[in-house]
Amino acid sequence: MIVIVTGSSGQLGYDIMNELKRTNFDVYAPSSDELDMTNQDKVSSYVKRINPDVIIHAAAYTNVEEAETDRETAYNVNVNGTRNIAAAAETVNARLCYISTDFVFDGTAAQPYEEFDIPNPINEYGKTKWMGEELIRGLCTKWFIVRTSWIFGENGKNFVSTMLKLAETRDTLQVVDDEIGSPTYTPDLAAFLTALIQTEKYGIYHASNTGKCSRHALAEAIFEEACIDIKVEPIISSQFASKVTRPKYSVLGNNALIYNGFQPLREWREALKAYLNHIQKT
Ligand SMILES: NC(=O)c1ccc[n+]([C@@H]2O[C@H](COP(=O)([O-])OP(=O)(O)OC[C@H]3O[C@@H](n4cnc5c(N)ncnc54)[C@H](OP(=O)(O)O)[C@@H]3O)[C@@H](O)[C@H]2O)c1
Repeated sequence: MIVIVTGSSGQLGYDIMNELKRTNFDVYAPSSDELDMTNQDKVSSYVKRINPDVIIHAAAYTNVEEAETDRETAYNVNVNGTRNIAAAAETVNARLCYISTDFVFDGTAAQPYEEFDIPNPINEYGKTKWMGEELIRGLCTKWFIVRTSWIFGENGKNFVSTMLKLAETRDTLQVVDDEIGSPTYTPDLAAFLTALIQTEKYGIYHASNTGKCSRHALAEAIFEEACIDIKVEPIISSQFASKVTRPKYSVLGNNALIYNGFQPLREWREALKAYLNHIQKT
């Protein structure tokens, strides 16, 4: 199978690319310099030239804070760019796997979001990702939309790496306790995506490591597992300076994944341990 992966210099795209290569797919992973997805003509000619069986579209404008003020760029990358990828995939009859986010939901739920709960994004990033989903559904025949949450992996900055960095210079940290979600380790998600794209089980999937926690509980778990002695004080999100309103509760119920016979991703704390072990060795 020939697979194009967008966003391979990012956290998730990097692990998808590696997992696909490891499992002997013919992988094309253009950098954003080689293939700026906002350039319609270039996307179209690149995809026609490679003629892939599958495109995994992991590239995105992911700076949630900046998206509030730099709306034009966020929209251009996440909406126009996604439209270009979707239209190009359709012209070569490729399967398209679009990576989306828990931020399409408003966070008012009290139980895990199901795949068919109605999105209602409450920030600009979430709106652009939801518009991307709508384009995939409208333009493509063979599509997977995979929503994930709170990702961490070796190739980039994430909540876990930020906590570890802050702990180098501080002995107390304040972390919000009123945002609940499911952390997701990128190699675990990449393994699921690799299995998914080989099927015709199209549709919407939620894919995160199993279980849930608050940001504060995640920070405490990071320091416990890394044997770092630091005080982590819980605060509420209104005490944390931010331009963005984030969903308070964005746990994803991985129902479609289980229903379609895929292996659920391991429990988030096990995944966290694996990540910490991995980065200690490198
Ligand atoms: N981070 C999270 O917690 C999280 C949670 C849920 C869902 N997601 C989704 O998961 C996916 C991967 O996220 P991530 O955190 O791994 O992303 P990331 O590390 O921020 O990487 C983003 C990638 O997109 C590429 N990109 C940006 N603009 C581009 C353009 N105009 N043309 C081509 N490529 C472009 C970047 O290339 P350059 O490096 O060259 O700029 C980079 O490879 C995204 O779709 C995101 O919305 C993320």
